[in-house]
Amino acid sequence: MITLILTVLAPFIGFCDNDFTVFLGSYKSMKPLDHGILITAENAKLEVLHFSPTVIRIRINKPELQTEFSYAVIQQPVGNFKEIKDKQDSLVLLTDSLQVVIIKSPLQVKFSTPAGTLISRDYQDFSISWQGTEVTCYKKLFPNEKFIGLGEKTGPLNRRGNAYVNWNMDIPAYSYRQDPLYVTIPFYIGIHDNVAYGIFLDNSFRTKFNFGASTDDEFSSFSAANGEMNYYFFGAKNIPGIIRDYTWLTGRMKLPPYWSLGYQQCRWSYYPESEVLNLANTFREKKIPCDVIYLDIHYMDHYKIFTWNKDRFPDPKSMISKINAMGFHLVTIIDPGIKIEKGYLNYDDGIRNDCFVKYPGGKLYTGSVWPGRCHFPDFTNPKVREWWGKSFTALTGPGVEGFWNDMNEPSAWGQSIPDIVIFDFDGHHSTLAEAHNVYGLNMSRATFEGTKQLLNGKRPFVLTRAAYAGIQRYSAVWTGDNQATEEDLMMAVRLVNSLGVSGVSFTGSDMGGFIGTPTNELFARWMSVGVFTPFLRNHAEINSRRKEPWSFGDDIEEISRQWINQRYRLLPYLYSAFYESTQTGMPIARTLAINYPEDKKIYENEFQNEYLFGGEILVAPAAGNISNCNVYFPDGEWYRMSNDQLYKGKTETVVACPLDDLPVFVRSGGILTLQSVIQNTSEKPSPTLEINVYYGKSQNSFTFYEDDGITYNYETGQYCRRLISFDPERRTITIGKAEGSFLSKFTAFRLVLHDFGDIMGLKVNGQDQTLKLKASKQRFFEASLVNDAIEIKY
Ligand code: GLC
Repeated sequence: MITLILTVLAPFIGFCDNDFTVFLGSYKSMKPLDHGILITAENAKLEVLHFSPTVIRIRINKPELQTEFSYAVIQQPVGNFKEIKDKQDSLVLLTDSLQVVIIKSPLQVKFSTPAGTLISRDYQDFSISWQGTEVTCYKKLFPNEKFIGLGEKTGPLNRRGNAYVNWNMDIPAYSYRQDPLYVTIPFYIGIHDNVAYGIFLDNSFRTKFNFGASTDDEFSSFSAANGEMNYYFFGAKNIPGIIRDYTWLTGRMKLPPYWSLGYQQCRWSYYPESEVLNLANTFREKKIPCDVIYLDIHYMDHYKIFTWNKDRFPDPKSMISKINAMGFHLVTIIDPGIKIEKGYLNYDDGIRNDCFVKYPGGKLYTGSVWPGRCHFPDFTNPKVREWWGKSFTALTGPGVEGFWNDMNEPSAWGQSIPDIVIFDFDGHHSTLAEAHNVYGLNMSRATFEGTKQLLNGKRPFVLTRAAYAGIQRYSAVWTGDNQATEEDLMMAVRLVNSLGVSGVSFTGSDMGGFIGTPTNELFARWMSVGVFTPFLRNHAEINSRRKEPWSFGDDIEEISRQWINQRYRLLPYLYSAFYESTQTGMPIARTLAINYPEDKKIYENEFQNEYLFGGEILVAPAAGNISNCNVYFPDGEWYRMSNDQLYKGKTETVVACPLDDLPVFVRSGGILTLQSVIQNTSEKPSPTLEINVYYGKSQNSFTFYEDDGITYNYETGQYCRRLISFDPERRTITIGKAEGSFLSKFTAFRLVLHDFGDIMGLKVNGQDQTLKLKASKQRFFEASLVNDAIEIKY
């Protein structure tokens, strides 16, 4: 009886304000707005805005809403709700795709499909509440609900049962469960009962997410230490739609320079000049393809940003032009801390232009990093961003085209910059508490915008360690200081995949592990998985042994060469996947949860690291010196890339996984465009594009994309795009008409048919064509790649 009374009373007890917690209270009134409504509740204001039929913003603050400002969001609300029904107990707001129900007492928000299927709702017992300045939103947790995303977070693919904090941190040798790391992306996707939704909490104060950790499966929650409860709800029909909407809201990447898709060699640090030249020569002599060499902190004069150490690099321009001539590009590291030293140009200039962050009262904040005592630019000030951008002449002048933004959490020894340090926040004025998590984003932005101007139309390559939501507009992200362990290799895969569902496509981890020495086998494994990672860079810490591909003996050198060759063969496919990402936000490395969210198997520990690389390739990453591994094949049928063996979907199978043959598969019906091996991306491949089509029972198409890879001329139509489609019912393969004004580097194509049976001939635009045998299941022919459509009937 007592239990019954308590159970009945519990919801009411929960909602009462008390000395510690204030709730939203009940609905009082509503006012229509241009794109939604503004509700007055007992303790707070709540705004519901229609950003699109599938993107709704909920903004809540007490007692009043503040001026809004976001570093992540680049869109304004568009249109309005189709209908707003004011009922006795609720308000119902309708779009073409969603019903937003505002329950009046106590005030709660609910999202359903137009047919009434519940997608997400505030937790029944309490929803929005404040403890001091911290605001939390509690949501109902569905029994079978799974969570993915939240950017660069360790732990499993399915984040259910875990809690996370967002506060960008410099954590060398981070462990399997370490949290937080370097990046804040407060965006996740919930999946249950054949529905999925996204939530993006756009608040850069310290935020917390709880996906049912320690709550006996009752609710999930998200909180911000200060500021508004300001979140976007994404209700598109499926996960690709949610990602498309999220990247519409926060922006998509521009195409990076083509060379940045190549193999990149880094070490802390290559110097002096002779070592760099020797490195470049070794790659070419050994015929191991490579596009990029990095200079870590030792290229600078006493670690002073925008300087060169004249003893080590007496003539950077001539060195860079030498390696450019060999097909290499140079990337240099850049840290935010400016050494306090009178007479050092960037210090004097920064002081003169008032560029550094200060305490209240005007004293400059000082922290120590590599150069010793430093001041830190306020990248949230537009003038400082401009000043920073212009300083890159010291690097672009001699010919640097890639800029590696490090230590930008910001990190200072001790890692505790006081919260009271003041930031401009683009004229909105704030403190470190709000600016910390967007510092890396704004440094990367300043770097990207500045170098883009200085490079006169060429695309800069920008890489960053710290970031906030929206970083994809400016920079690639690498996952910081990992270790040379098998666990780290698998964690790297999950970090990359999680960044991918969170809008950041161009990502990778230090190949081989930054700290420690990989075994030969681990290095070879990392090389093979790295090839199927958007950003492929080998990097090593100062105290670790050499990790260039030839440092592990002849066998591993050969395996490394073979894998890097494979990367260069894949470039026409990979660049097209990059292009797709610029159009739809779809990541390049795609956790299987994007396309198979309801398949329980893909979340199991054993299979959670499998992913699609682009739309056609399935990668089952293997670590360690094992000869077999268990692979789960999602729905469909899958051909092993190395031997065309066919595997049925929805099964798990033990397959061989020697070091030189990572389990990689192509979907049945898959279309894979390959080229000949080149030593770097400035070298022309053979003019014959290899189009591989893998037999399948359903239709498929692939957008093949090319442009000059160097400039932004593609934005004004200088690209070449063609739709390649396969229709098994009509027995046709069509290479669509070339669109755009860029002249393809391919003048011929070789069509390789995989597992199409014994056909020996077919018609190309009505003309008979004989097929040749390539391997047991492969037939091929070659023909010229004219601009008009080409129809192949088999
Ligand atoms: C940081 C970076 C690492 C770099 C090192 C020296 O630890 O994460 O990549 O090599 O600093 O600059």
